[in-house]
This record gives sequence, structure tokens and C-alpha cells, in this order.
Amino acid sequence: MSAWSDATRARGERIAFVLTMGALHAGHVALLSAAHKHADRVVLSIFVNPTQFGPSEDLARYPPDLDGDLAKAQGAGSDLAFVPEVKDMYAAGYQTFIDVRGVSQGLCGGHRAGHFTGVATVVCKMFNIVRPHVAIFGEKDFQQLTVIRRMVADLNLSVEIIGHPIVREPDGLALSTRNAFLSVQERAHALAVSEGLSAARELFAAGERRADALVDAALTTMKDRLSRIDYVEVRDADTLEHVEYLSGPAVILAAAYAGATRLIDNMRLG
Ligand code: PAJ
Repeated sequence: MSAWSDATRARGERIAFVLTMGALHAGHVALLSAAHKHADRVVLSIFVNPTQFGPSEDLARYPPDLDGDLAKAQGAGSDLAFVPEVKDMYAAGYQTFIDVRGVSQGLCGGHRAGHFTGVATVVCKMFNIVRPHVAIFGEKDFQQLTVIRRMVADLNLSVEIIGHPIVREPDGLALSTRNAFLSVQERAHALAVSEGLSAARELFAAGERRADALVDAALTTMKDRLSRIDYVEVRDADTLEHVEYLSGPAVILAAAYAGATRLIDNMRLG
């Protein structure tokens, strides 16, 4: 992988990178298409990273469909798919992890201990192997994107990070690998997440600036259909700091369960 990157860089070509855990859907494909606008070559990685899953999480539920994924990647014009194995990424004796502090705390970090350490570690390793000029991440995982931006700034990594808007189903449900786990009824309930966030956004558009009131509007729409709500919070869109009264760019973020499936979503406010 690194030899390919060195040769590509030596020819003066720019490399864009999209990292995934496979099971590609239209959200991933949109990232790949956007990547072309930023570089001459597009690299896709497929790696189900064990260090970002907790012991009781759904690592084993990630269905490997490498042939299907590669066909989609090729359809989206990727030049190269990097598909390492766990033993390539975490050799025996592996001991080093990256701990991005503030922005990893709370939200998903409060419910998935160690998750963002695993994400930051694998993303940094991937950057070192693939050596991209630019990497594209979805805003679907808003906290993840913020953690990666922080890591890149703090560790002086020379890669440009670009956020891509969330790709949604026509009815508003954010595309996710996990949507495939939903039954028909759960799929209907899952819609409450984006509807709740939309309700908050409408209230914001009508002039409401108190974070509590915006969160209440979302919860009122969400609470009857979702089996558990991990959080609904308004945060500063750049720093993820808590916001009580909105005066600059903010984002409302939610994590909730439809049946046994955990879903996350967010919408910008302003
Ligand atoms: P994964 O969940 O496979 O997502 C890969 C990339 O696709 C991420 O940047 C994610 O934000 C983006 N994405 C997923 N659904 C999207 C949607 N509906 N709209 C826009 N973008 C979407 O996120 C990960 O993998 C991993 O944590 C990874 C970064 C690969 C590290 O292991």
C-alpha cells in the first residue's frame, strides 16, 4: 500500500482516502464520489477495526461481503481498495493507542468506553500507511469527525480532513450499515430519530435559541417509538462544548435504539 502511495506521490498526483468498515451503502459511495473532486487517485479502506468495539457490541454482526463492496467501490471509481487483516494492523505485542481527550468525552464517548481511542488509533495508522493528501469522513459520525480533526491538528498530521453531509433515505432516515438489522416495524420506529431532530431544527428556525427547549422538542417526537435514548444534546459545532443558549454554529446530536439496534444522527442548527 505504501509503495503504491509513494509512487503516486512521486508522479505528483494527489491521493484522497475514504476509510470504511465495509458493508458499503450509498453514504459510503457518496464519500468516494466526493473524494474524486479533491484528488487524482481515490483509495478506499475496508477494515472492521476490533479496537473500537466494546465487548458487548456488534462487531460480529458486520457481515463481510468483500466482492459486493469491491464492485460498489469500483462503480464509484476508486483506484485501489486497501483491505488489511487484523494481524496486519495489530501485530502480536501491539501496545500503542491514541487518546484524544476532551472531544471524545460525553455523547457516544459516554456510552461506548474506549470507542474513540480505537477510532483515533486505527485512523492514524491508516493515514501513516496510505499517506493521503486528503481524507473524507461523513458528518453522520459527527463526534468521530471532530475527534479526527482534533487528532490531526494536535499530532501535526499532514492530511486535510473534509466532512461530507449526511446521506439520508427519502423519508429522512440516515443511511447506516446498521439499518439492515432493523425489522419492518423497527424501521418505522427508527424514523423517530431524524423526525425528532427535524422538530428541533424547525423550532430553531422559528427563533428558539434555548438548548433545553430544542432538546425537549426532539425528545417529545422521539420518546414513544424508540426503545432507549442514550442522549439528545445540543453542542457547539466546532468544539462540541456544551451550549445552553445558541449564539453560533451548533449541532443537535442523538443516539437511540430502535429495538436492539443503536442508531446515531445529528443536524446542524444555524
Ligand atoms: P463506517 O461506519 O463504515 O463509516 C465509514 C465512513 O462513512 C465514515 O466517515 C462515516 O461517517 C461515513 N458514513 C456512514 N454513513 C453515512 C451517511 N449516511 N452519510 C454520510 N457519510 C456516512 O466510521 C467508520 O466506519 C469507522 O469508525 C472508521 C472511520 C472506518 C474507522 O474504523
